[in-house]
This record gives sequence, C-alpha cells and structure tokens, in this order.
Amino acid sequence: RLDKLKGVQTGELSLAVVTTAQYFIPHLVGEFSEQFPELNITFKVGNRAQTIERSVADEDDFYVFSHPPEDPDLELIDFLPNRLLAIAPERHPLTQQTAISLAEFSRYPFLMREAGSGTEHAVSDFLAEHQITANVRMTIESNEAIKHAVISGLGVSILSEHTLSYGGLSGLSVLSVEHLPIQTQWYLVRRKSRPMSPIAERFLSYVKQQGSQLFTSDQQFVVS
Ligand code: PGA
Repeated sequence: RLDKLKGVQTGELSLAVVTTAQYFIPHLVGEFSEQFPELNITFKVGNRAQTIERSVADEDDFYVFSHPPEDPDLELIDFLPNRLLAIAPERHPLTQQTAISLAEFSRYPFLMREAGSGTEHAVSDFLAEHQITANVRMTIESNEAIKHAVISGLGVSILSEHTLSYGGLSGLSVLSVEHLPIQTQWYLVRRKSRPMSPIAERFLSYVKQQGSQLFTSDQQFVVS
C-alpha cells in the first residue's frame, strides 16, 4: 500500500496541449501538483496539427484540444467551455456599435492564425458556414502576437476568450458581432490503449472534478 502511494507521489505525467490551452492548463496542473510535490511533469505546447501528431505517435499521457481529431481510439472528456470572441483595438470605430453584422466585421483587415491551428480551423469553418470571406491581412503563428498586432492597429481578429484572461484585455475591446462568439469546448484527451499510471488516473479524475471550476464567472468577458 505504501509502495503504491509512493509510486503516485513520485510518478511522471506528460501532457501536450494546443497553444490556446497554455493560458489555463498550467493553473490546473499547478493546483494538482501541490498534492504531489515530487511529481515530474512534462508539458509540451504546440498548435493543433503538432499536438495531433503527438497523439498519433502516442507520445503523452494526455492532450488538450478544443478541436480534437476524429480518431475512435481517443477518449474525449469535455471539461470547460471555450468561446471565440471578436476583438479590435480599443479605439476602433466598431467599438461604438452594439450590433455589428458579420459582413461589416469581415470588411476590416483580419489577423488569422496559421493553417494547422485549431483557432484557424474554427474561424474558417465559421466564416464558411456564413458564406463570408475574411479580409486576411496577416497570418500570425501566435495568439500573443495577434493580440499585440490588434492593439497596434494592424487589424481585428477572433480569438479564444482564454487568450484574454489574466489581465490580457488592456488595449483590446470585445466586439458584439452577430453569430459570435463561436461556442466550442475544451477536451482532455487520452489514447484508450495507453496504460494509465496511478498518477494519470488521479489527474483524469482531478480534471473531471475541477476542470469546470477553472474559469470562474468573474473572468468571463461580457459581450455587450
Ligand atoms: P490552437 O488550438 O492553439 O492550435 O489554435 C486551439 C484549438 O484546438 O481550438
């Protein structure tokens, strides 16, 4: 019994998450690992395509996606909503409007994440569904760089609300554009055939119990 417990305390856990999850998964892992000070955690961050590659190669105990690949050998546990919001610089003319049509929004220069990103996948699907073409001015491989580019006036964008959490909203406004936000979910994902270590089992039940508490209502962005 003692040995088993020791195994749990000194185990290893490997996670690979999409870039947008880097804003909140470390907080979840931080709280979890307080109970296991000797736990050795590997934490990889990549875009959706890179994280899918790791899951195909069975590299990690868990993955975090909001657009998981279609793979029947993966188990998906949804644990948290993810909304993608329209953002503009604080002094943009659209911030004065309360009901912006998607057609009008799409006329402004748009900053898009790179192909292979889950955000790009969601935004492209959404625009195609509404038969809208974005006026893409730049493709940028990082949520943080997109935020800074929006603040500097290079364009507008659509990003996950999580990229705006923890004080990230200064200089930016969330716009109320029709059909937005895009509503998706965060999933903790594991390959069903991968044996679960005791610590992996603990982590799975921790996320099932605590994952939805992560983003409290005072951090939600009000879309006016
Ligand atoms: P991304 O992924 O960080 O590759 O944009 C986010 C997602 O899967 O929704």
